[in-house]
Amino acid sequence: MSAPAETPVFLAACRRQPVPYTPIWIMRQAGRYLPEYRKVRAQVDFVTLTRTPELAAEVTLQPLRRFALDAAILFSDIMTPLQGMGVDLTFNPGPVVREPIRTDAAIDGLRALVPERDVPFVLESIRLIRAGAPRGVPLIGFAGGPFTLFCYLVCGRPEKEFETARAFLYAQPAAAERLLERLSDAMAAYLLAQAGAGAQALMLFESWAGLLAPPEFERFALRAAKRTLAALRAAGVPLIYYVNQGSALMEAVAGVDADVIGVDWRSPLGEVRRRLGPGKAVQGNLDPAALFAPPEELERQAARVLAEAGPTPGHIFNLGHGIWPKADPDAVARLVDYVHERSARDAQARRAAT
Ligand code: CP3
Repeated sequence: MSAPAETPVFLAACRRQPVPYTPIWIMRQAGRYLPEYRKVRAQVDFVTLTRTPELAAEVTLQPLRRFALDAAILFSDIMTPLQGMGVDLTFNPGPVVREPIRTDAAIDGLRALVPERDVPFVLESIRLIRAGAPRGVPLIGFAGGPFTLFCYLVCGRPEKEFETARAFLYAQPAAAERLLERLSDAMAAYLLAQAGAGAQALMLFESWAGLLAPPEFERFALRAAKRTLAALRAAGVPLIYYVNQGSALMEAVAGVDADVIGVDWRSPLGEVRRRLGPGKAVQGNLDPAALFAPPEELERQAARVLAEAGPTPGHIFNLGHGIWPKADPDAVARLVDYVHERSARDAQARRAAT
């Protein structure tokens, strides 16, 4: 069945409905590669930016003014709700937790998150973005996946392969499960509140779960994510589950109750779609490095992603991971326009052929 004309293309694609062109947005689309973002950041530090609704809404909308993107994503950070749970942290530029959480006492010391009390500025940002979004572009709310948050909390600072957090899984599995459960419930409350404030899709960023072997992925990361996603069904909006480096895990990922699976660039989308089965839309998966190619090569790479995704409804174009701070905004503009034009042409040709 076709989407009603008023359904934004991004939301229709999340629900695997036919669309006139492939929608596109870019992970980390608001950020340091944009001069207008750097201008705001020259005035305020990152945490203040996330806590000031007018500014958070402004930087959320910056990329939508420049590019014909099909979705906005709330400007915040995966660590922001943890600050609301009492975690003392700074950004340098990645998150640094002053007292890493490695004991039962530290786990019990985490407050349950009450979004209206602990992160009211996020909910206010969402209301401002909805009021200011151009072209009726829908807004994605997001949270960190429980295991990714666990990595930062246990390690305290980014580690190359989050060794301290992965060792903790084996050394103290029961404590690890307890911490993951807490994070899972907190992110469920957080995302439900985001939907209540106006977020039209909800995304879990599980950036580091791909570091795990399949049994540990299922026992720790996936179980916690499933717990969050199950609670989120009550919101009635599309759910997106992104697993970076998830290639080896797709059969397990196919079992989550999410509408869309976010995919990194390491495996072709055609293969991913076969392994996920017909019940999932996919989001991705251009290599962020491809934005540094000359224009014709960038188009060739984007065409390859579109061809791999194939004609079956349910593809949202994106990068396979966040855009790099050194990326050229003009390359982003070319990519967005090319994906729209090329996919519209292909969709038209398919309609003519039937
Ligand atoms: O445009 C958007 O996508 C919305 C904003 C957003 C930020 N962080 C802003 C940010 C989103 C969705 C995130 C998610 C996030 N944060 C993830 C998951 C996605 C991923 O990339 O894997 C992770 C792992 C983090 C943790 C984090 N926060 C890191 C590693 C860093 C520093 C390095 C970096 O990549 O920017 C941050 C800080 C951060 N979060 C910045 C921004 C714009 C840079 C802060 C600055 O302006 O100095």
